Amino acid sequence: MYMEIITSAIHQRIDCLDDSHSEAIALTSAYDFNSASEAANRFSGVTQGNIYSRFTNPSVDLFERKLATFEGAEASVAFSSGMSAYLAIAITFLKQGDHVLLASGIFGTTTHLFRQYFGRFGITASVVDVDDINGWKKELQHNTKLIVVETPTNPILAVADIKQLSLIAKEQKAIFVVDNTLLSPVFQQPLAFGADLVLHSVGKFIDGQGRVVGGAISGSYKLIQPLKDYLRSSGTCLSAFNAWLLSKSMDTLYARMQQHQSNAIKVYNWLKVQDMIVSVNSTIDPEHSQAILISEQQKGHSPILTFSIKGGRIEAWKIIDSFELISRCTNIGDAKTMVTHPATTTHGKYTIKERERYGITENLIRLSIGLENPKDIIDDLNKAFDAIKTPICSDKSEEYDHVLSL
Ligand SMILES: Cc1ncc(COP(=O)(O)O)c(C=O)c1O
Repeated sequence: MYMEIITSAIHQRIDCLDDSHSEAIALTSAYDFNSASEAANRFSGVTQGNIYSRFTNPSVDLFERKLATFEGAEASVAFSSGMSAYLAIAITFLKQGDHVLLASGIFGTTTHLFRQYFGRFGITASVVDVDDINGWKKELQHNTKLIVVETPTNPILAVADIKQLSLIAKEQKAIFVVDNTLLSPVFQQPLAFGADLVLHSVGKFIDGQGRVVGGAISGSYKLIQPLKDYLRSSGTCLSAFNAWLLSKSMDTLYARMQQHQSNAIKVYNWLKVQDMIVSVNSTIDPEHSQAILISEQQKGHSPILTFSIKGGRIEAWKIIDSFELISRCTNIGDAKTMVTHPATTTHGKYTIKERERYGITENLIRLSIGLENPKDIIDDLNKAFDAIKTPICSDKSEEYDHVLSL
């Protein structure tokens, strides 16, 4: 059944460019109307068609249709970034006096957006441990209008029970958003478990080659249409060129995710038996405390692995600095394996106390496993681990003094 969806997604076409087998990019800002009345009819919505590329563009439309097919959604809408997709949800569906519930450990900038900026407009936000269902119920307020989870969470790989949370959201009449960036629709389709909207930072696995910044939201026509109306007024649109790249990427998404997962399993198994590792976080772990939920909800595992090593920030940074193949990047979902120190980068906006609560410790390292030969990824890890077995000599320790002061 799922393979039929993939075939259908890959074979979506741009109608106006019907005979080019690889779709051309619709690099145009405006459209040539046949008459003044045709322009008027399109503007008033009497007839459908392109108007202006801030809100209608065939390349963007093609990408949106492919993503909607993958997610099993009625419709999708694309944005200039994942954060502008979050902004769209907040501005479209919230008003002064509303409250938002956010899952613990989600991307730091998402929490920052709601707390720092929307706080100024009288919208409050609180954070709940992602896997504590009773906690979710306790934190609900009469004015909770939006519930946002990322599952699995980055970087701890804890899992939200989408079905349970969707029931809580429905009873509350709140919109329930699932950020599906870490799995892609190949490994998880949150709408099938009751989510109202699915959000992606599409520059991650969906692009898969680290070329594009973009975002997208999928869901019912009823919820996507107001987001499209907002897009027309806000102008936070995806470019035609980026949409074209993303459409091409969608054609290989299924195959890429299988390879990412297979590599991640091999790296996980290697990490698991290393002496200097305290713990490895991954839904691949057969003893993961939420293993049953994972097998029910996910069709595969995120290629994001995090591990904590013996020591603290100095040891973590030393490993990170020793990689030769693995790139030091704060992105995820690239063909190239990448490493990040979450406590001082992606999750640096959380307070020390919050980071402790969410398990984002100084000795935690995040890997986004790429598509290289897994043996080469493991070789690079092995060499870096050897580097921390060598004690830090006195002149080196000076070099690392600044590390602790940041
Ligand atoms: C899970 C997740 N959601 C949303 C975002 C924000 O997306 P963008 O960087 O496209 O604005 C990120 C960015 O890293 C992310 O990791």
